[in-house]
Amino acid sequence: MRLGSLTLQTNLFLSPLAGYTNLPFRLTVRELGGLGMATTDLVNARSLIERKVKALKLIETAPGDQPLAVQLFGSVPEEMRDAAQFLESLGVASVDINMGCPVRKVCRVGGGSAMMTELNKTAALVRGMVEGVRIPVTAKMRLGWDEENLTAPDLARALEGVGVAGIFIHGRTRAQGFGGRVNLVGIRAVVQAVAGIPVIGNGDVTSPEAAQRMIEETGCAGVSIGRGAFYNPWIFEHTRHFLKTGELLPEPSFEERVRVMVRHLDLMIEVFGETLGCRMFRKVAPWYSKRFGPASEFNKKVVLVSSRAHFDEILAHYRQWRGQFLDETGELKPRFRPVAMASSFMQAENPAVALRREIPVPKGPVDVW
Ligand SMILES: Cc1cc2nc3c(=O)[nH]c(=O)nc-3n(C[C@H](O)[C@H](O)[C@H](O)COP(=O)(O)O)c2cc1C
Repeated sequence: MRLGSLTLQTNLFLSPLAGYTNLPFRLTVRELGGLGMATTDLVNARSLIERKVKALKLIETAPGDQPLAVQLFGSVPEEMRDAAQFLESLGVASVDINMGCPVRKVCRVGGGSAMMTELNKTAALVRGMVEGVRIPVTAKMRLGWDEENLTAPDLARALEGVGVAGIFIHGRTRAQGFGGRVNLVGIRAVVQAVAGIPVIGNGDVTSPEAAQRMIEETGCAGVSIGRGAFYNPWIFEHTRHFLKTGELLPEPSFEERVRVMVRHLDLMIEVFGETLGCRMFRKVAPWYSKRFGPASEFNKKVVLVSSRAHFDEILAHYRQWRGQFLDETGELKPRFRPVAMASSFMQAENPAVALRREIPVPKGPVDVW
C-alpha cells in the first residue's frame, strides 16, 4: 500500500505500545514477516529537540528496522516541526502524531486526545509539520473525546486538507479507555470522511479473521495491531497470508515459539545490555509461555532471570519438566494443549473482553492507557 511517498509491502502496521514497542520487539516481529511498517513508542517532541538521553533511546533503530515511523506528542507547533525535521535528518521514514493518548500528563499540555477537541489549532500545528518535512506525516486518533463528541471524521478531513498522508484510528473514544468493543461503524465514518488518503483501522484485532472483518466492514485501507502482536508476534504474517489466500496458516510449534523467544531475548541484551535486557525480559517471557501448554515451572523461574546463562538453565530445566506432559511423538498430550490461538478469541462472546482478559493492559510507563 502507499502512504504518501512510501510504498509499503503490506497494509499491516504495528501500533505503538509505550514500554513495549521497543527496538528488540520491532526486530523480532519484523523477522517473522507480514509487517508493512512499525512505529516507536510515543516520544516527547521537546525532549527530542533537547536530545534527552531517554528520548534518543526511544528512537534507537537498526538497519533491519525499516520502514520506521516515530510517534511524537506535543502541542507546541515549532517544537513538533523541529522534532519532525530532526527525525527526517536521521532517515526516519514517517512521523506520526499522537492525538489519542488519554493520559492526563499528555492532555494537560494540549497534546494527545486534547488535540481532537481543537480542530483549527490542531490543523495549524499539523500544517507546520507537513510543510517542514518531505517524509509523510500521519495522525493517530481515537473516535473523539466521548460519545457526544465524535470529532474524528471532521478532524481527519481537516488534516487531509493540510496534507497528512494517512490516519490511524482506534475505534474507541477517549472516555471509553479500553472498555466496550471497538466501534467499526465509527471507523467507517472516518473512512467515508476523507477524500483520498488511507485510513488505517485499529482496535481489538487479535486474529487474521478480525483484521479481515475490520477491512470489510469499514473499508479501511489497512489495519494496525497493538496488543494482539504482543500476544502473537506471528499475527502479521498469518494475516497477510489469510487476506491474500483465505487460508489460515498453522500455529507455530513449541520449538518455533522457543526459537523466537530466545531471539527476542538476544535482541533485548544487544540493545539494553545483559543485566537490563534480562530484567526487562522478565515481563516479556510469560507472553511466549502462554502458548507452551503447562508452564508454571517456567513462569515461576523466568521472572527472576538475571543473565543469558541463567535463562539457558531455566529453559533446560523447563524442557525436562515439560516432558511429563508429552506423548511418544513428543507432542503435548491432548488434554494439556492450549486452545488454538485465533479461536480462543473468535469463540468468545465478546472478543474485546476476551482480549482484556487474555492480554491484560500491560503496565508500561503510562498507567492509564
Ligand atoms: C500499554 C499500552 C501502551 C500504549 N502506548 C501508546 C502510545 O505510545 N501511543 C499511542 O498512540 N497509542 C498507544 N497505545 C494504544 C495502542 O496503540 C492501540 O491504539 C490500542 O491498544 C488499541 O489497539 P489494540 O487493541 O490492537 O491493542 C497503547 C496501548 C497500550 C495497551
